[in-house]
Formats: sequence, C-alpha cells, structure tokens
Amino acid sequence: MTRVQSRTASYPWSWLHAVASHLRPGGRRGDEQALLSLLNLAWFVEARDPYTGGHLWRVSRYAQALAEHAGLSPPEVARIALGGFLHDLGKVGVPDAVLRKAGPLGEAEWQVMRTHPQVGLRLLSAYPLAHWVRDAVGSHHERCDGQGYPDGLTGTAIPLAARIVGICDAFDAMTSARPYRAPMPIERALGIIDAQSGTQFDRDLAAHFVALGRAGRWSHIAGHSDEGIPLLHCPHCGPTLVRPREARAGQLLYCRNCTSAFVLEASRGELQARPTGAMASASELITDADQALLHRLLAEFAALRLWALPVATGARGVPFAAG
Ligand SMILES: [Fe+2]
Repeated sequence: MTRVQSRTASYPWSWLHAVASHLRPGGRRGDEQALLSLLNLAWFVEARDPYTGGHLWRVSRYAQALAEHAGLSPPEVARIALGGFLHDLGKVGVPDAVLRKAGPLGEAEWQVMRTHPQVGLRLLSAYPLAHWVRDAVGSHHERCDGQGYPDGLTGTAIPLAARIVGICDAFDAMTSARPYRAPMPIERALGIIDAQSGTQFDRDLAAHFVALGRAGRWSHIAGHSDEGIPLLHCPHCGPTLVRPREARAGQLLYCRNCTSAFVLEASRGELQARPTGAMASASELITDADQALLHRLLAEFAALRLWALPVATGARGVPFAAG
C-alpha cells in the first residue's frame, strides 16, 4: 500500500486566507454558519429516504478514517469527511417511486437514479463552501475502469475525495438493510471491495479500506447511526430504526419505512425497541435534523483544521487563492 497524495493537500496561503476571512462580512462566524447550513442541507436526504437512516454519518466516518489511513493532511481529511456527509444530496431530486421502490430498479429507473450526482452539483452551485464537497457530490459514482457515471472518468482522473467516498458509499450500501434484502456481513462486503479493486475501486484506497476493516475498525460504524448508537431492529424492515443519542427508556420511536411504533426498553444495559402494535400518525413521523450530531461534526472538522482550506470562492466557484 502506498500513501495517497492529494492534489490539494497543502495550502501555503492559509495566512492570507486567515486575514481575508476577517475582512469578509460575518468572517469566521459567518463561515461556520454556512458550514452548519450545509450540514443541515444533507439531512434533507435523510428525511426523504427512511432506508438511509444514518447512511450519511457512516459514509462520513468511513471516509474520515480511510483518508487518515491513506496519509492525507488533517484539513483534507476533514474536507473528505464533509464530502462523505453531503455526497448523496442530489437524491432529494429523485422521485419517491424510484428512491423508495421496494425492489431492484429497472433501466429507466436507473437512468433517473443516475442523475443524482448532477442534481446535487446544481443544487449546490451557488452555495457558500460548496467547492469543498463538489468532488464527492459530483463524482462518487465514477469507477476506476471508466464504467461509472456521470462522466465515465478513469483512474486518478476521478478526484481523490470521490474515490474515497465511492468505496465507503458502496460498502455502506452492502452492509445496510434494503427493502428487499438483509445487511451483508462486514467480511463478505470487504471481500467484494477487494475483488473490485482496480476495476470499480482505486487499488491503493481499496487495500487501505480492506485492511482497516479486517483490523475491526468498521464494526463500530456499520449498523450504527452515531458514535456508540446501533440501529435498532424493526421486525418488518430490519435494522433501520435511528435512536437519537438523548433518547431514554419509555420514549416512543417510529419506523419511518413501515410506520410501526416502538417503545424503548432498557435490557441488559442496552436500549431495545419493542413494538407497541400501533402505527405512527403523520405528525409522529415528522423528522428533525439531529442538531447535536451536526454540532459535534462541526467541532470535529474545526479540530482537524478544516478552516485552513480556502473558504471564499471566486465568481465561478474557484477557491479565490488557489491559483
Ligand atoms: Fe450516491
């Protein structure tokens, strides 16, 4: 395995940027607000698709660990973790009949699904800080052999962030429940990543990902929706129930896929979801963005010095001090 070089790993003008950020209206505080609203934007996808419960958090976590293991600088690690959180934003533009279909998609439906990277890019086009996540959003379904979409890019022409997020996204899809299948065991999914190394996935990054998985690094992320919070089991839909960190025994929880109601019960030091036999009302299915989780991500990205990367963009979305 070799260390993977980023084309934007070092940024020598961060002092200039630091000065400029103090001159912009809102300065750093305005930038943090922009980042928080970007993270909130990602939650729109979680609200649309009950089967993505925790997907964005998991992909972000896998991507962060993979980027670190591949030897990238802390600000680049943070940028890639952020890209992992935002990568599927364009799915808000995919109709329910396709996004929530209880079965494999037909060709015409795949054509609709394959538009989501471009939808994501367009939705983000005038958004502050969008340049940080453009690679992950627009290119996470490219494949190293050129068989991916939307552009059929090959090898290292695919941006590094997208090569990383692409592996993490595929692994999470395999190890998560779908309407038509149970989650795949981690070891089997790692075998598939390994088998697709050099064709679907970047060879070096796939080797890093599989090595981390075989060292047990993914077992606290797969099947979880937050640090130390496993998905709970719905008897109809599988492990898809997201429990907020602050939820306590006695609290009601609802499966957003089949709308079954559950009550949380403490059992052997863990919280379990017991079906109540009732179905959720429309108002009980209203979803909130997990603000506590988003603020924790914000703090972690700051600790990784995400703000050392260029913040402001030029007229065409190019980082103002990058060239
Ligand atoms: Fe995607």
